[in-house]
Amino acid sequence: MTRYAHITGWGMSVPERVLTNDEIAQFVDTNDAWIRERTGIRERHIANPEETTGLLATQAALKAMEVANVRPTDVDMIIVATSSPEHLFPSTACLVQDRIGATDCGAFDILAACSGFIYAVDIAAQAIKSGSIQTALVIGSETLSRLVNWRDRTTCILFGDGAGAFVLQASDEPGGVLSSMLRSDGSGGDLLTIPAGGSSIPASPHSVGNDLHFIQMNGREVYRFATRVMAKATEQVVEAAGLKMEDIHLIVPHQANYRIIEAAARGLKLPLERFVINVERYGNTSTASIPIALCEAIESGRLQREQNIVIVGFGAGLTWGAAAIHWTGPFPSEKKVYQQRYQLLARARSIARRTLRRVEGWIYGRK
Ligand code: UT7
Repeated sequence: MTRYAHITGWGMSVPERVLTNDEIAQFVDTNDAWIRERTGIRERHIANPEETTGLLATQAALKAMEVANVRPTDVDMIIVATSSPEHLFPSTACLVQDRIGATDCGAFDILAACSGFIYAVDIAAQAIKSGSIQTALVIGSETLSRLVNWRDRTTCILFGDGAGAFVLQASDEPGGVLSSMLRSDGSGGDLLTIPAGGSSIPASPHSVGNDLHFIQMNGREVYRFATRVMAKATEQVVEAAGLKMEDIHLIVPHQANYRIIEAAARGLKLPLERFVINVERYGNTSTASIPIALCEAIESGRLQREQNIVIVGFGAGLTWGAAAIHWTGPFPSEKKVYQQRYQLLARARSIARRTLRRVEGWIYGRK
């Protein structure tokens, strides 16, 4: 029997603090008019020190699970796509797994920069379609404000913080993720990078003194690359899904720059109204930008059941990708899942496990 991977839950979380262009203009040489004209961005959300990538991811995930009405114990796989993980390891996905109490599931991060969410959706959908799992939680979460050089006007104006999450579930009913494509071109790796902090350039006084732990970007080249790949990737997944462009109700592109989305619309000969655009309020939230935009489209009623959409993105690597999705919404379910109860249980379980580990360590240490 053919299996399908439907998106049955969605949720987003953004920090409360909003940083406007005018505020940025107080500490770097820029201005609101330049930023709006060149990027379309008006403001972005910035995390406070307590709001970490894992916390935003957990909040978005809980909302998505609420919509899908699934228990944390139903989740078989958690994928967090992020360019700003809490640590190199453990993965941010494992932090989410512990916080939500998903006791029976694999968890890992994906590093494909801003295309990461599409990569994660593809992997989760393939795992569901193959029959190896039933339910996946796919999250894009970022606190890029921590990795931005706030003295560099060419990059600090662009990025924002936030998270978005989907629940994907198996079904015999046709629909869900119909097709997807993932691509990469490592020859462009130096165009958008955080040079230090990995094994190539470990942290040192030199790396810190030379700002090598911050985002560095050749904006013009990334712009050229993005406008080249967006339209083509969209066309490819639409064709692979056996659809025509007129069958696509909405395109949800990565929100990096209004002009890049305009160029994609021109390339596809589609009116801009067919695109979901919210870059003016969030800036570029990397892996979180597509799920946040999609959440807003659903919540505002722009997307209805039985409509087709395309999600399409690009980013460092270089990477790009797209997926065509038949939108069906949550599966009907009889019994309401009370997420709060599971939350309490998850916290208690986590504390108990840590305590037990400490006690065991103490006992074996004495021996
Ligand atoms: O998820 C992927 C992430 N990255 C992207 O999507 C980035 C893609 N690239 C872009 O969006 C655009 O290239 C930028 C928005 C980054 C830059 O826009 P641009 O139209 O390509 O500007 P530019 O880099 O060609 O710079 C034009 C001028 C330069 O001055 P000169 O050399 O012409 O005198 C810059 O120094 O604008 C100057 N400039 C600024 N001026 C005021 C650069 N940044 C700023 C700024 N405020 N913030």
